[in-house]
Amino acid sequence: MLDGADPLLEARPLAPDSRAEFLADVLTGLARPQKEISCKWLYDARGSHLFERICELDEYYPTRTELGIMEAHARAMAALLGPGCALVEYGSGSSIKTRLLLDHLARPAAYVPVDISAPALAAASTRLARVFPTLRVLPVCADFTARLELPLAGIAALRRAVYFPGSTIGNFHKPEVVTFLRGVARQCGPGGGLLIGVDLRKERAVLERAYDDALGVTASFDLNVLVRANRELDANFLCDRFRHEARFDERHGRVEMHLVSTVSQRVVVGGETFRFSEGESIWTESSYKYGMREFATLAALAGWRCEATWTDERAWFSVQYFTSG
Ligand code: AVI
Repeated sequence: MLDGADPLLEARPLAPDSRAEFLADVLTGLARPQKEISCKWLYDARGSHLFERICELDEYYPTRTELGIMEAHARAMAALLGPGCALVEYGSGSSIKTRLLLDHLARPAAYVPVDISAPALAAASTRLARVFPTLRVLPVCADFTARLELPLAGIAALRRAVYFPGSTIGNFHKPEVVTFLRGVARQCGPGGGLLIGVDLRKERAVLERAYDDALGVTASFDLNVLVRANRELDANFLCDRFRHEARFDERHGRVEMHLVSTVSQRVVVGGETFRFSEGESIWTESSYKYGMREFATLAALAGWRCEATWTDERAWFSVQYFTSG
């Protein structure tokens, strides 16, 4: 940020009427043979807070492991991003890993954190602007999966690059990954860069523990979507009649979170009734785990070429750097 401008004032407004979208999504999802609710509804204020607690759990290795990779290799990553780069971060949250990159980036043209949460965005932008007083910080409060206008028109950058840490890409189904990465390539233009955190396949027990921890924080995070539906959609879920389950589906290479009905029951949402048999579940999230080269193959379908991959000593997580043609 330049000239002491307040990043809060530069933040864009949130998308309107997410309640109507939530309702439509839940009604459609619960009418499917395999009932489902999209994982994006897990993140209300309480859900976001629970997710922060998940990131600190012993069992949840991705956050710690990715941070370790960034600490070890941020200099090399910044060298590949090159001087004069406009860095766009999707789902920037607290931007902790970004600081490591910015520490090493040569003359960055701008930093554009994109996040759906206005308070998190404002707090992180203010912090970064303090640490890097000459950096132009241009926060955008938006859903980065929707069409996004970047405030980079007047910025002379030698390259646009997207930083997408946290293995959030793992929450996209594979066809969505390709569509999404095509959009990123369009946004970056020719010679663009993509630095992305990708979680890797590993032993089932490690994966299932990471998504069903001993303290039950992930269970609360998952069940919170029902609490949210009760509050926002006039639903009448009884949360103690559902239990959280994490299953690694080896064939699809994904951990699935489900809320399993413990009894036969009916639930009303927005005036519509849904029947659950005992053991029937609502699928609430998929978290894909990739083979070391598997993700690059998928990204290639969207026009991205893998230039470098960094991993930890157990090869549990990777950070991958791509360029577009
Ligand atoms: C945000 N995302 C990358 C997390 C993950 O690991 O898929 C969400 C999460 N769900 C349960 N624990 C963490």
